[in-house]
Amino acid sequence: MKEKLEAMKAEAIARIESAKDLDALNEIKVAMLGKKGELTAVLKGMKDVPPEERPQVGQMVNEARAAIEEKLEEERTKLARMLRTEKLKRETIDVTLPGRRSLRGHRHPNQTALEDLERVFIGMGYEVVDGPEVEYDRYNFELLNIPANHPAKDEQDTFYITKDILLRTQTSPVQARVMEQGKLPIRMISPGRVFRSDEVDATHSPSFHQLEGLVIDRGITFADLKGTLGQFAREFFGEKTKVKFRPHHFPFTEPSAEVDITCFKCGGKGCRMCKGSGWIEILGCGMVHPHVLEMCGIDPKEYQGFAFGIGLERVTLLKYEIDDMRLLYENDVRFLNQF
Ligand code: DAH
Repeated sequence: MKEKLEAMKAEAIARIESAKDLDALNEIKVAMLGKKGELTAVLKGMKDVPPEERPQVGQMVNEARAAIEEKLEEERTKLARMLRTEKLKRETIDVTLPGRRSLRGHRHPNQTALEDLERVFIGMGYEVVDGPEVEYDRYNFELLNIPANHPAKDEQDTFYITKDILLRTQTSPVQARVMEQGKLPIRMISPGRVFRSDEVDATHSPSFHQLEGLVIDRGITFADLKGTLGQFAREFFGEKTKVKFRPHHFPFTEPSAEVDITCFKCGGKGCRMCKGSGWIEILGCGMVHPHVLEMCGIDPKEYQGFAFGIGLERVTLLKYEIDDMRLLYENDVRFLNQF
């Protein structure tokens, strides 16, 4: 019996020493000391040991048990420490490494130009109004005095969805929508995306942006239009900027004009930017046509107004001296990062 116990103990200790992980240790513990374990079996067999030997055998079993438990505990601590060291080694962080910078986005040059435009007009008391990009023929053309046979309505220029529904070709339909609501006076701008069936090149794109302006009140004259746009040009392009109104034609304004500003690059002397003329065209404008007022439910004898339309990309290209509109749409980060 004694030898058997000694052998059992020796074997258990050898197994414990060669255990590779905590699971293996646990298995050994169960195999030896568990309910069905080897040592437990010896204890259960005590009834077959002659009574006079029992105390001695009992003591031996207890000693073996204590020895095994002690060894198990010792090995468990050793293993746990080893695992911890290994884990720490694996997870070591080099705190001296520089951090990874996350990429931060910033405003697109078109957006910056738009916000600058809005700021100038909001400062003059204008409200910013939104309008739909998918529009009725009625607002895009009819109420703006562009009759059925007008060349602008040609499918070559306009993306039609149905006969009456289209992608707006200009932001001017928002004028008609706001006038039709009948809340007077009106002082509003409406920036947004417009669509034309154009081929892409340095100055054209099937989708670009405009900013529409409309003022309706009693006693508005061309002088108000001139004063307003002059003020706008000075605030946006610089204090020294001069404006020039060139007669033009738009169906929804009468009289109509195109506005040039003195070239902000050369100050009017003539350079590559202004193609030697000293002037740069920036927008179209005019006094709202009485027929347009009437169609939108406003009495032209009582109320008058002016309107203007600015090409956003055009202004952005000028402001940042970019020579190809495609750069604004391609969104190459190497280009955008310069702004
Ligand atoms: N809608 C015109 C265009 O796309 C621009 C324009 C000109 C708007 C004169 C106006 C205006 O409001 O009065 O070419």
